[in-house]
Formats: sequence, structure tokens, C-alpha cells
Amino acid sequence: MSDLSRPAGPRIIAVANQKGGVGKTTTAINLAAALAETGLRVLVVDLDPQGNASTGLGIEDRDVTTYELLVDDAPLNAVIQRTSIPGLSIVPATVDLSSADIELMANEKRSFLLHDALRQTAMDAFGWDYILIDCPPSLNLLTVNAMVAAHSVLVPLQSEFFALEGLSQLMLTIREVRQAANPDLRIEGVVLTMYDKRNNLSQQVEKDARDNLGELVFETRIPRNVRVSEAPSYAMPVLSYDPNSLGAIAYRDLAVELLKKHNKIAA
Ligand SMILES: Nc1ncnc2c1ncn2[C@@H]1O[C@H](COP(=O)(O)OP(=O)(O)OP(=O)(O)O)[C@@H](O)[C@H]1O
Ligand SMILES: [Mg+2]
Repeated sequence: MSDLSRPAGPRIIAVANQKGGVGKTTTAINLAAALAETGLRVLVVDLDPQGNASTGLGIEDRDVTTYELLVDDAPLNAVIQRTSIPGLSIVPATVDLSSADIELMANEKRSFLLHDALRQTAMDAFGWDYILIDCPPSLNLLTVNAMVAAHSVLVPLQSEFFALEGLSQLMLTIREVRQAANPDLRIEGVVLTMYDKRNNLSQQVEKDARDNLGELVFETRIPRNVRVSEAPSYAMPVLSYDPNSLGAIAYRDLAVELLKKHNKIAA
């Protein structure tokens, strides 16, 4: 891919939905891997104390993590690790991060810590094209840090009953972050995950989402695919675990759709 495909400075995308188990981590890891596969340089920031993105990308050494970045003010280059995928790095997380909310309570800049770490650093030196932040299933201080740091929010929506419930709360939080701290925060889009085209419910969720959210909903749907759910136990994105699986293909399609949206490749 030519240099034209490179955004000026990294585009920072928070992958967020306060609902648990909707495919945030799966989307963060696999979209990151798909972007890296095109030759772009991608960083995943694991902002969830569950550390699923770190596990899913095979990171065992977690001496320095997002916790040190946010709470101890560690420099970015001290907390980044390479993954086995060329072009893809990660700032890992551990359960330590679960106490950050309380520990940061008295810190006036508590909502801006990730922003300051990512946006006030000389990012050009790192050469990142995309930074994907994997958020916890909550609208807590960590998720607010992600939204303050990000250019946009990508919302995975599980193709299940009640999928759209809670979206208004998420949109409200985005609005509040815009007003208080990050006026340019955009919604990158909503991606349907665990989609089963034979299931009427999936189709109904898709219709409701497209009726209500219109163009915000990505054309690409991520199918429910057993290879996607197996990949993390082999510490790999599905793109490496089974590159020709329907899940891997869908995440590559999502990456292409995202790059087209950003005018990074011709439509
Ligand atoms: N397309 C898919 N096909 C099959 N299984 C999937 C798919 N996407 C996600 N899963 C599985 O669903 C479960 C939840 O996914 P994931 O961990 O990505 O969600 P999450 O939103 O990050 O969860 P949490 O809110 O706990 O952080 C995992 O076991 C994952 O492997
Ligand atoms: Mg997760």
C-alpha cells in the first residue's frame, strides 16, 4: 500500500460499549490485525482490567502496563510491546487497572491521563497509523479516558435481543465527553457482531440498528464463527489462527470499509 494510505498522525479509536461480551475485545484485536496486515502500523491499548486483548495477542510479560502509563506516569515507550504480528504492538493490562478509578479520584486530570499519554507525546516518532483502545464493559473513568483521548468511538453491537438497549446511555456519555473535554469526538460507526444470517433475531437487530442509526452502521457484519472464539485460547487473532475463516474475512472487510471511510483507499 502506498504512503497515501497513511493518515497524518495516528487516528485514535475507542472500541466501547458498556454491555459485556458484545465483541469489543474481539473487534479491537482483529481489526487491529487486519489494519496491520495492510502494512499500517497499529497500536492496541488494553484499557480493561480483564486484560483480554493482551491475552488474545499472546502477551505474557506484563510488568509494565496501562496502569503504569496512567497512574505512575510511565512514558509510552516504556509500556509498549511488540506482538507476533508485524506492525502490531500493544500496551498490555492486568487486573491492577481495576483500582485505577479509586486511586485517581483526587487527581484533577484524571479524565485526561490517556489523552496526555497519547496525544501529548511526540507521536510522529512512533509512526502509528491507528491506535485502537479496548474499553472495559462500563462507562467508568477508564472508558471516559478512552473517549477523551480518542478521535472516534467504534461501537460493537451484538446481534442479540436487547442489543440496542443501553446505546442511548452510551450516546449520552459521548455527548457529555464532547461538552466537557473533547468537542471533536465522533462516532466511527456501529458494527454488528456475532451475526447469524439464518437467525431472524439477527436480521431484526440489523433492521432496527439500520433504521435507527442509518449510515453509522457499517455495511460489514461480523458473523458468529467458531474460529473467532477459538483464536484467543491460542493467543492469536483469528486472522493468524485461521486466515481464511469467515471471521477473518469479515474483519478484513471491516478494515477496508474503515480505510475507505477515511479516504485512505479508493472506494
Ligand atoms: N464473531 C464471533 N463469533 C463467535 N464468537 C465470538 C465472536 N465475537 C466474539 N465472540 C466470543 O464472544 C465472547 C465475548 O467477546 P469479547 O470478549 O470480544 O467481548 P467484549 O465485549 O470484549 O467482552 P467484555 O465486555 O467482557 O470485555 C468471547 O468468548 C468471544 O470469543
Ligand atoms: Mg473485552
